[in-house]
Amino acid sequence: MDVVEELIKNHRLTQNQYEKLLGLWQDPQTAGRLAQEAVRLRKEYYGDQVYTRGLIEFTNYCKNDCYYCGIRRGNPHAVRYRLTEEEILECCQQGHELGFRTFVLQGGEDPYFTDERMAQIVRRIKQEYPEHALTLSIGERSYESYRLLREAGADRYLLRHETANDAHYHSLHPKEMSLDARKQCLYQLKELGYQVGAGFMVGSPGQTMACLAEDLVFLQELQPHMVGIGPFIPHHDTIYASEKPGSVELTLYLLSVIRIMLPRVLLPATTALGTLDPRGREKGLEAGANVVMPNLSPVKNRKLYDLYDNKICTGEEAAECRGCLSRRVESVGYHLVVARGDSRQ
Ligand code: 5AD
Ligand code: FES
Repeated sequence: MDVVEELIKNHRLTQNQYEKLLGLWQDPQTAGRLAQEAVRLRKEYYGDQVYTRGLIEFTNYCKNDCYYCGIRRGNPHAVRYRLTEEEILECCQQGHELGFRTFVLQGGEDPYFTDERMAQIVRRIKQEYPEHALTLSIGERSYESYRLLREAGADRYLLRHETANDAHYHSLHPKEMSLDARKQCLYQLKELGYQVGAGFMVGSPGQTMACLAEDLVFLQELQPHMVGIGPFIPHHDTIYASEKPGSVELTLYLLSVIRIMLPRVLLPATTALGTLDPRGREKGLEAGANVVMPNLSPVKNRKLYDLYDNKICTGEEAAECRGCLSRRVESVGYHLVVARGDSRQ
């Protein structure tokens, strides 16, 4: 049996087999076969529904210095902001009115948001919106911190591993950061009962097909509820300013592979995909994605959450993003739903 049919049958492959599968990404027949099976599976578990999450980018202060990222601490040109607790709650209020039943609080690793401050925000949101799911995406923290935030009411946690190859991880991050620490956080979050999302960039500088195969093997082992992947996009204030962006086609291919490997996974069609291709998110849905994450951040801050160049949606009001995405989702035959959108376990 070839690797394509074996993945479809067993939902898992070895490192070598994934390398072989990834070597076929430019073959339209293989990509078509994988997309067809990915869509069949997403329809089996999720029908024609697309889940939506309101993304609130609440701080762009960050103590980390990831070499690819526009808001890394070493970028003196980044203009920093933090939303107040009241502003965050206003975003939730607006999001609630627009039909969002999951809020995602995402930010840099900002020491201002201590466990106490974070737990207080989580408690307030859960008190006002007890029916809603709350997702945190605030980087690496201690086990104790994750425990407190879980106790305060956080339901889910997104922490991309970025790359599962150790040498590649070290080439993208300063020496005080490590892949082991990142993986440990992901396992701890799982143990604490969070629904956990990992993920990686496609086409980051120095990435090889073997690295991507390692990402897939790692996801297979971690069994996350969510996987966020998007193409790498250079940011003008980083050492990677003149690197090539990642490939949209390869990202779509990987979305299909991930859907087949983890049939019930929550898989967003990401903003980065929509940034590199005007129909990137629609194409993501057609490759097996089932989640979109429009921006709920206040428009005055949006341009400042500047991870990579030309990020879309930075001039739009929340209501416009919601309407725009709803039309985009309908254009490929799916429907945005008002629901928490938990993974079908
Ligand atoms: N290109 C694409 N994605 C990026 N991210 C950070 N910088 C970039 C970039 N230059 C992604 C990382 C991070 C997420 C919030 O944004 O994967 O986990
Ligand atoms: Fe923001 Fe389209 S999703 S404008």
